[in-house]
This record gives sequence, structure tokens and C-alpha cells, in this order.
Amino acid sequence: MSAEPRQGWNMSVIVALAAAGMLLAAGVMMAVYEEKLYSAQQVKNIREQAQILAASVTAAIVFDDRRAAQEYVEALAANPELQAAGVYDGGNHLLAGFSRGGARLPATAPGEGAAFGPGFVDITVRASQNGAAVGTVMLRSVTEPVERRYARYGGLILLVTMGALVIAVLSFSQNALARRAQQLSSVNTRLQEEMEERRKTEEALRQSHKMEAVGQLSGGIAHDFNNLIMIVKGNLRLLKRRLGPEAEQAGTYIASADEALDRAAHLTQRILAFSRRQPLTPQPVNLSTLAQGLTELIRHSVGERVEIVLKLNARGSILCDLNQMENVILNLAINARDAMPDGGRLIVETRDVVLSEPPPDVEGESFTPGAYVALSVSDSGIGMPEDVRRRAVDPFFTTKPLGKGTGLGLSMTFGFVRQSNGYLTIESAPGQGTTITILMPRNGEGA
Ligand SMILES: Nc1ncnc2c1ncn2[C@@H]1O[C@H](COP(=O)(O)OP(=O)(O)OP(=O)(O)O)[C@@H](O)[C@H]1O
Ligand SMILES: [Mg+2]
Repeated sequence: MSAEPRQGWNMSVIVALAAAGMLLAAGVMMAVYEEKLYSAQQVKNIREQAQILAASVTAAIVFDDRRAAQEYVEALAANPELQAAGVYDGGNHLLAGFSRGGARLPATAPGEGAAFGPGFVDITVRASQNGAAVGTVMLRSVTEPVERRYARYGGLILLVTMGALVIAVLSFSQNALARRAQQLSSVNTRLQEEMEERRKTEEALRQSHKMEAVGQLSGGIAHDFNNLIMIVKGNLRLLKRRLGPEAEQAGTYIASADEALDRAAHLTQRILAFSRRQPLTPQPVNLSTLAQGLTELIRHSVGERVEIVLKLNARGSILCDLNQMENVILNLAINARDAMPDGGRLIVETRDVVLSEPPPDVEGESFTPGAYVALSVSDSGIGMPEDVRRRAVDPFFTTKPLGKGTGLGLSMTFGFVRQSNGYLTIESAPGQGTTITILMPRNGEGA
């Protein structure tokens, strides 16, 4: 997978953690604020009680009535939070008071205000009459035990933590979803590629089945047709003999019919070659020697405007039908000539090669790795667009005008080469010329 989703992953984790952290900080701040609010409220409550007591005991202080002062003080004992209460006279001496739970009242009045101790708070207020201070009242109250306070904040912190967790989990699952979507999309792409691959293979298979069927059909017809031609030819020969020397004129007709029959026989031969049903007589052939021997015939066929270059480097020999191989080379040379109407260069090249992988366009056919002899015929002609290149060996496929080409040259070449366990490849592009290579298994006996 690319670096992008990983970066996105990091980003959203950071955002989730930051959100969770902020939520926690807000929770802590709320707890602190709540704590402060609680303390202030408690001090206010106790101060109010102290002020009520101060107002109540003012007369008792003024008259030094200890009993009355004691009664006021003890009335406060009903409040369980109060641990001690003291009333001091104008000279700061303790006049009345109570204490419990181990608390001790100071002997002299403490200064006015609030003083916090461990687990308690002392609130001291003045008792005054007509604006003049006459004494002091002090109340000691327990503050809330730490555990209880924690229990109180526990709920809040729990809520905040859960909120943070929910954010984090949501972010993680969103990330997981994004990764899953990424995986799905790459699986989808792969699937599409495989489907495309499959479509191509099926197309190639369909094409080869079609060729097979056309081959069988046309091969069968050509075979019977050839026999019929032979019968007609034989009968023509008999007829000519029967007519004798007096039938000069009839002889001319018979000769031209015979010629047409030869052309028809040639055509059926090509169809048989394409359908791989021709009788072959394999023999050891050295392609370099064969090509060399054909040079004159090639020159004659392609005309003067085409320069012929020979690069005959193959030494190995192959097993094939000599006549058919000659036909193949001539066919390729004639195709090259037709591709160079204004002349050009024709290269006939042979070389020994060792193939470990199938040559281009050969996949799907059975390939045998090993030593081969390659024969290439290259031209500097018009070349072929890809769709023509792919269909060039199809029987009856031709781009030449009606009557010029049968579209059987390359298909018979291909049929013959395959029948001889070889391969044929075509390299071509418009304006770039064409190289057609046949690869024949080496005979192994040397040249
Ligand atoms: N050397 C080449 N350069 C460009 N196109 C070629 C070449 N060889 C073959 N082709 C193309 O492939 C087609 C089929 O060739 P093929 O030899 O089978 O038939 P043809 O030459 O048209 O007819 P035929 O060989 O029966 O006279 C040609 O019509 C042409 O379009
Ligand atoms: Mg041809």
C-alpha cells in the first residue's frame, strides 16, 4: 500500500489523541473548579452559622452570662459536621464552648477569618453590639473526607474518560475502514486486470479455434478438389491423345485449360499447406545454403529497385521439406517487394539461436526450449498497423486489391512452419518496415 493512507492514519490518530487529551484536561479543570466552588460554599455556610451564633450570644457576652452562652453553643451540637464551637469575651478569654471527636478549642480567641487545617476549617467572626466588638465566636467544621470527594469526582472523570475512549475508538475504526476500502479497491483493480487478461486469452483461443475450423474445412475441400483437378487433367491428356495431330485448334484450348488447372492445383496446394495437411518430405536443410541458392530467384522476383542484403550466419541444419521451405522464402520476399513499391532494401538473415522462452506472440502454443535456426526476411517497406500485423497469418486475409493477393501466403507459411514444429513471428510498425522470422528446431547433426 502507498505511504498516503499510513500518513492519514497517523494524522487521525493524532487528532483523536488530541481530542481525548483536551476532553481529559477539561474534566480536570472542571473538577478543580468544582472543588474551589465547594470550599467557598462551605466557608460561606459555616460563616453564616457563626454570625447567627455571634448575634445570639452578644448579650450573654456583655453580661458575662456563661450559662446562656453555653446553651447557645450546645444548641449547635445538633449539627454533626461541627466539631467545636467557642465563645470568647472582649478580653479573648474562652467564655463557653464544646468540642468533640478529639478537637480542642484554643484557649484564646483566634484572629478573624477562615483557617484550614487537616480535615477541618475554623471560621472566626466578631460578636459586636452597636458596631463595637464585644467578643469573638469560632466554629470548627469538618471538611469533606478526601475519599468522598474522590468518589464525587470519580463519576465525572469516568464520564470524561469514556468520552475520550469513544472518540479514540471511533477514530481507529474509521482508520480501519479507510484501510479496508483501500485494500478492496486494489483487489478490485487486480480483478479487473485478471478479467481483461482472461478476455484476451479467450479471444486468442476463439481465434485459434476459428482457424482450426477454417483449416479443417478448407483443407478437406482442397484435398477433394485436388483429386478432381487430377482427374480432369488426366482426362484432358487422354482427350489430346485421342484427337491426334489433326486437331491443332482444339489442342490450344486444351493447353490453356491445362494451364488453368495447374494454377488451380497450385492454389489447392497453398490451402493444404495452411491447413497443415500437405504431404511433407522432411530432409536436413541448411537455411544459409538454401537462401544463398535462392538469391537469383529472389532478385528476379523483387526487381531491380530492391537491394538485397544477405547475412547468412546460421551453421546448424534443420529438418524440413525443401520445396516448401523454398516456397516460404519466396513468399516472404514477394510480400516484402509488395511492401516496397518504390524500392528499398531486403535483408535475408539466418542465425543459430537458443530459445529458453517462447518468442513473442507464441504463448498459448506449445513451446519447446532448445536450439533453433532463425531465418528473418526484413524489408524497409510500409510496415503494418497492429491490427493488420495480428491478422496477417489469417487465411484469406489480405490488404491487397482484388485479384492481387489471395491472403494465403503467410497462412500457408505459418501452417508449414507449425507442421514442421517451428514458430513464426512478425515485427512491424507503419513506416518502420517489417521483419518476419521463422524459427525451426535445429536438427543437431550440424551443417
Ligand atoms: N512485408 C510486409 N509488409 C507489409 N505488410 C505485409 C507484409 N507481409 C504481409 N503483409 C500484410 O499481410 C497481409 C497478408 O499477407 P499474405 O502473404 O498472407 O497475403 P497476400 O500477400 O495479401 O496475398 P498472397 O500472398 O496470397 O498473394 C498482406 O495483404 C499485407 O497486408
Ligand atoms: Mg503474400
